Amino acid sequence: MSKKTKANEGSSSGGGERISRERLIELLNEDLAREYQAIIAYIVYSQVIKGAEFMSIAAELEKHAGEELEHAITIANQIDYLGGDPTVVPNKVKTSSKARDMLRFDLENETTTIRAYRDRVRQCEALGEFAMAEHIRAILMQEQEHQIDLATALGEDAPDMTS
Ligand SMILES: [Fe+2]
Ligand SMILES: [Fe+2]
Repeated sequence: MSKKTKANEGSSSGGGERISRERLIELLNEDLAREYQAIIAYIVYSQVIKGAEFMSIAAELEKHAGEELEHAITIANQIDYLGGDPTVVPNKVKTSSKARDMLRFDLENETTTIRAYRDRVRQCEALGEFAMAEHIRAILMQEQEHQIDLATALGEDAPDMTS
């Protein structure tokens, strides 16, 4: 794949950090590694989670797995568009035999993911990549739904994301 981007294409992100196309590729690859992690976690957790009270969330987790796969494809497509090479390495997936631990890991990962995509929307816009920002906004909406599903299953409110 061509490496046509140069550091001098950067501009201010508006959030303090300067962003360049190269840096955006790196950050999107971090997002892609998290999407792979989410696919694996949701596949495994949805199948191994036990307990009558967790059966409806298990079905929900299986649905999340498919949505995370779509996110991964979208993010890989954006990386390719920018001239980068999509990573093939997922972030590490934590394991536990306890249903509540699995839901907790997923909830923490969704919260991290939401923070990252909020930054990514701003960074895409700072580079004038408005269509890319829209793709990421669409993903962000689903990640927020995932976060709410998990918090609800744990009997909690969704984490406060305003800070
Ligand atoms: Fe995702
Ligand atoms: Fe998600």
